[in-house]
Amino acid sequence: MNKKMTILFPSDYFNKKAVDEDLKNEYDAVMATGMYDVILFSYDDWFNNDTIILDHRPETMTRAIYRGWMMTPEKYEQFEYRLYDQKIDLITNHWEYEKMHAFPNIYNKVIEDTPRIITFPKGTKVDIEVIKSSFNRFKLKDYVKSVKGESFPQCFSSDITQDELDDYLKVFYQFRGDLFTGGICIKEFVDLKKYDGKTNEYRAFYVRGQVISLCRNSLQGNYTPEPPEELIYKYAHLNNPFYTIDFAEKEDGSWIIIETGDGQVSGLSEGQDYEAFYRALYHAMTRDLEWRWCLVGNIVDEHEYGEDKEIRHGTKSFTRGTKVYIAPVQWGDGFERIVVLGKPRRRLGLIEIIIPQKRVENYRLKKIHDPRVLERMNKSDHSWWENTDADRECIEGMLTWLNEDDKEESL
Ligand SMILES: Nc1ncnc2c1ncn2[C@@H]1O[C@H](COP(=O)(O)OP(=O)(O)O)[C@@H](O)[C@H]1O
Ligand SMILES: [Mg+2]
Repeated sequence: MNKKMTILFPSDYFNKKAVDEDLKNEYDAVMATGMYDVILFSYDDWFNNDTIILDHRPETMTRAIYRGWMMTPEKYEQFEYRLYDQKIDLITNHWEYEKMHAFPNIYNKVIEDTPRIITFPKGTKVDIEVIKSSFNRFKLKDYVKSVKGESFPQCFSSDITQDELDDYLKVFYQFRGDLFTGGICIKEFVDLKKYDGKTNEYRAFYVRGQVISLCRNSLQGNYTPEPPEELIYKYAHLNNPFYTIDFAEKEDGSWIIIETGDGQVSGLSEGQDYEAFYRALYHAMTRDLEWRWCLVGNIVDEHEYGEDKEIRHGTKSFTRGTKVYIAPVQWGDGFERIVVLGKPRRRLGLIEIIIPQKRVENYRLKKIHDPRVLERMNKSDHSWWENTDADRECIEGMLTWLNEDDKEESL
């Protein structure tokens, strides 16, 4: 095996050296594959004190997949940065996390295949009249989850009064507590098909454009129909390297999307083969990409160097004009230092090094097919662009300010 992947699990609440008891089966499956290094972070220190304590630190920058409990997008952003300081680069950045974790963010992309929703951002009135004008029946959620339990209705009639709704909302906020996210999301209620009293729901895990697992997820028997392949693959390229989609069969036999999630914090299904899941995850994660988007630029010609403002050409490693491939933002330094791949002075092949962003100009977006370049990116310890729409959109966004900066400097 050429390269291990790293998985990050939360520890047990009381024992920082042991995995969280509820994730022990997953941990064992991960170990059994022999494909992963595992790092534990202290559950209590992170979730209760905002501090990252690892059972061991990687020596060099290491890409890692988190498997564990949900966090609010704000908390995940902190998680991403704190881990980065400890040489752990999460495969999913915080905006990718938020995209799939909070359903209203992805709603417009899946709108053709999901019941309608109305959102009420935190702080706005959840108005029963507004709801009534759209739906007869609805489900109440925040941007991420519903509340389950006998005391809380799964289906509301739009005939309830504003006061009744307000009372339910109070209970809802109480149940969600610190995990309350975004605002209230009202979903149109639809009739789902039942088999022996159980709905027919599936969870698909997607990794870099591939479906790595599709499992029954509502404790239904083993012989219920599966969602159509066409529908499953229609959504294989959303904006996150590792995510889930839940599907359900409607009473009329058609299929809908129920919700989406970040793959790192979505549970596996009851009875699923955990080891097979982690093998498939590994293969999809390490699979070489056949092409990638990339931000490219050229090394500047003249620039002043040091206190004496000596004029230099190119950089220590690269001659002027050298084409360099530039990795996505790696640090919270506003892209001052960048990871580049390029052909060095007086040597063959390519090197990957860190240089100041101001040594590069003429930024542009490119589709990379060159096998030598792809091979370096596939093997790199830094994260490189992949081939999703999200990568292209991100580079296009960066180009507007990168080339703007260039202009300012030449004025
Ligand atoms: N629009 C809907 N109409 C009818 N039932 C639904 C709808 N959305 C979800 N459900 C049912 O409610 C359950 C919980 O809803 P879901 O959106 O998955 O919330 P949670 O975040 O709590 O998992 C689903 O598993 C499904 O059985
Ligand atoms: Mg669900």
